Amino acid sequence: MTIPLLFLALLARAPVRAAAQDQVPLAAPTDMWAALSARVGGRVFEPLPFARPCFDDAASPECAHVQELYQNEKARTAQPGGYTWGQWETCQATGEQCLLDFATPTDPAATASPNTCELGSIPPHFLDVEGPEDVIAAFEFTKETGVPLVIKNTGHDFMGRSSGKGALALWTHNLKDISFNPAFVPEGCPASTSFPGVTAGAGVQFFEAFEFAEAHNITLVGGSDETVGFVGGFLQGGGHGVLSPVLGLGVDRALEFKIVTPDGVYRTANACQNEDLFFALRGGGGGTFGVVLAATILAAPAAPVQVALLTFAPAPSAAPTAALWALVTEHMLGWADAGWGGYSMPTLALFVTQRLSKDEAAASMAPLLAHAEAMKAAGAEGVVAMMMEFPSFLPFFKSFMTDAGGNAGAGKVGYSVALTSRLVQRASFATPASRAALVEALVSGAGVPAPEAPLMIIQITAPTAARAADLAPGRTSVTPAWREAVYHVTSMGRWAWNATGAEVRGVYRETSRLMDFVRGVTPDAAYLNEADVYEPNHEVAFWGDHYPELVTIKMKYDPDRLLDCWHCVGWDRDSERYACYM
Ligand SMILES: Cc1cc2nc3c(=O)[nH]c(=O)nc-3n(C[C@H](O)[C@H](O)[C@H](O)COP(=O)(O)OP(=O)(O)OC[C@H]3O[C@@H](n4cnc5c(N)ncnc54)[C@H](O)[C@@H]3O)c2cc1C
Ligand SMILES: *[C@@H]1O[C@H](CO)[C@@H](O)[C@H](O)[C@H]1NC(C)=O
Ligand SMILES: *[C@@H]1O[C@H](CO)[C@@H](O)[C@H](O)[C@H]1NC(C)=O
Repeated sequence: MTIPLLFLALLARAPVRAAAQDQVPLAAPTDMWAALSARVGGRVFEPLPFARPCFDDAASPECAHVQELYQNEKARTAQPGGYTWGQWETCQATGEQCLLDFATPTDPAATASPNTCELGSIPPHFLDVEGPEDVIAAFEFTKETGVPLVIKNTGHDFMGRSSGKGALALWTHNLKDISFNPAFVPEGCPASTSFPGVTAGAGVQFFEAFEFAEAHNITLVGGSDETVGFVGGFLQGGGHGVLSPVLGLGVDRALEFKIVTPDGVYRTANACQNEDLFFALRGGGGGTFGVVLAATILAAPAAPVQVALLTFAPAPSAAPTAALWALVTEHMLGWADAGWGGYSMPTLALFVTQRLSKDEAAASMAPLLAHAEAMKAAGAEGVVAMMMEFPSFLPFFKSFMTDAGGNAGAGKVGYSVALTSRLVQRASFATPASRAALVEALVSGAGVPAPEAPLMIIQITAPTAARAADLAPGRTSVTPAWREAVYHVTSMGRWAWNATGAEVRGVYRETSRLMDFVRGVTPDAAYLNEADVYEPNHEVAFWGDHYPELVTIKMKYDPDRLLDCWHCVGWDRDSERYACYM
């Protein structure tokens, strides 16, 4: 039996070479960069754009290697100069870039004259962070020189917050330590308050965290993509996944952060010290309150995973999608409260839970399987429906979520994308009329079945059935709308490597316009890590009524705004650092 993949296109991958490309050593010992580098053990370097070898010599073996790995996310996230979404390597406002044709990396047009290789938004200097002293040195450096700072972990950010033209990047990728303590006591808390906790360095990625969890017979909440960072931007902005309905958001499980704040102090933030910072780091967003070096996350026991799947072939009309989403929306409150999470796309529904037994899962999902039978009877093509059980989370994740490039839809990354999203509240599921309005908005917003429509994904990853007693204690700063949400709807448009500025603006606008159908039936709420770059009213959408408190905390720890990022808490919208945004 072939297991149908979540993202439909499984592409064979070349083995990944995780080592970074050769870096250019720094010259001129007298300049400020050399001085900084000397202070941090020689760990400041100039990154190369990922595609650079192909601009140097398109016939070289180095170029062939880059072409082979160009759409591979493990390779990209291991490269200082590699970003998940192509546009954040470019300066969108000026068109400066160093890109291959990501649809066909061997396309000679991309590297042919007059195209050149420009750094674009890739920071020209990186600091390979090993410890708090490095970060303290960087904060002092930026205070003296005015050089903007960015924090780059994996480079997955959808709003370009981990790159920046002319910046110094604090690269956390090599902070890979990970350990498990079955009786972790947050520093300074009473010894009677202990939790099973995994402490991970800021560079740990989900493929590493999930392997670690499997080896230690525990479960960790993670997202759909194996190369996102475990405790970087994902965690600090919220962090959701298919287990979140039962186990909560990433922030709901955070026990402690180790962080250097921009005032140059290495701090521990947990429920018993620096509580304001602890609150801010549980949803206030990455890149804002300091550089997190490690975090400790509450572990859950290992448990079998029940899975229900329905897929069918794309049809020439929107009717099968509308019928699927009507069915899912009708049953969703009951399913979510029973502990199901999952995803639905125009021709797919995948549900996952650890809370139900195999028999309970089958009974609960009977309407989905009956829908599949009805589709088959009506002559629909390619209908596949099944229930499955996996012994633990990792085998489920490997079967459905790897080699798929997360939400890219085509099993690859490196494209340039416009994302937009919305949180849909319980109220939308309450009555037949509210459900009908929601389904109509979703189908209109998905633009199905047009093949060029943005890819819409209904993510059933809100903490609907999580019990407070099973989570880490204390407040979080994500928008309270997450607590009433059932769907997190994302939609993603894309453009070609050589799209004109007008075409790029058009994709941003059209993707956002389609989400207006859903905006029309929901309150002002969106997930900041998967948000529209031009999210209207983003302060309210991302943080709700927590925003004023978050600004106060930001100004307490970072009065000089040494950290600043697009649509982040307390951002300076007039800063020159945003010159590359369109
Ligand atoms: C394919 C794909 C699938 C995704 N799936 C999910 C999902 O299922 N669930 C979900 O919740 N999200 C998901 N995301 C969104 C993801 O959470 C964000 O892209 C997030 O910003 C990634 O964080 P990072 O640290 O890996 O990336 P980066 O781009 O390196 O960093 C993101 C932001 O966090 C800051 N940051 C990173 N590390 C630190 C640190 N140590 N201290 C302080 N600030 C830091 C950066 O400065 C930047 O502002 C997905 C993204 C992609 C591209
Ligand atoms: C793994 O954890 C589960 C849940 O706590 C437990 O039932 C099981 O015995 C453990 N397995 C091993 C091999 O320790
Ligand atoms: C972009 O490049 C492709 C080849 O990769 C070419 O067919 C197309 O015409 C180009 N588009 C623009 C707008 O230049």
